[in-house]
Amino acid sequence: MAASINHQQNIVILISGGGSNMRAIVEASIRRNWGARFGAKVSGVISNQATAEGLQWASDRGLPTAVCAHRDHATREAFDSALLKTIDQMAGGEGPHWVVLAGFMRILTPAFVSHYAGRLVNIHPSLLPAFPGLQTHQRAIEMGCLFSGATVHKVTAELDHGEILGQAVVPILKTDRPDTLAARVLTQEHRLYPEVIERLLASASHA
Ligand code: GAR
Repeated sequence: MAASINHQQNIVILISGGGSNMRAIVEASIRRNWGARFGAKVSGVISNQATAEGLQWASDRGLPTAVCAHRDHATREAFDSALLKTIDQMAGGEGPHWVVLAGFMRILTPAFVSHYAGRLVNIHPSLLPAFPGLQTHQRAIEMGCLFSGATVHKVTAELDHGEILGQAVVPILKTDRPDTLAARVLTQEHRLYPEVIERLLASASHA
């Protein structure tokens, strides 16, 4: 049955580095026809780092990009308020339907999170609630975990908490180092993140 599309769903993606998750999402949006199926499109990509490699990839594909550098702002609140304006401008109209954090390495203020409440999602490279924060792969190996993975969750004011929307499980091998485990988890992130976003788009387009 064809989806009844109620409204345009704008997706703004925030990155800090390579942007491989962002690439997986943009490619899925085209390959899986999110425009026609859910009235959804990636409106643009924003980074807090001017050197983020993902920006070039996005602009080569004709996507609007912007840099909102945290170093240009004296406080976390000032940065988040500038970021919020950049996001809303990029999405146009009523602002974005979804703000997708894809390797965005900044902690966000409660004011920012509440502005986008319910439409802010993140991917984290561990099986939350285990290992919030940094160095997730090293910590999982050191703890002797047999499995690790990635979690897509809604963002709340508490770091790496919020409703879990999807997880991918990856076995930890005896020979794993943090970088080898990170690479296998990342491959699963590229499958998981677009899949979860597609589910969100589908349920919003039927709402
Ligand atoms: C991914 O592994 C993502 O889960 C992680 O950073 C990497 C970004 O890769 N995110 C976090 O650690 C957030 N706390 P990418 O830039 O190639 O998508």
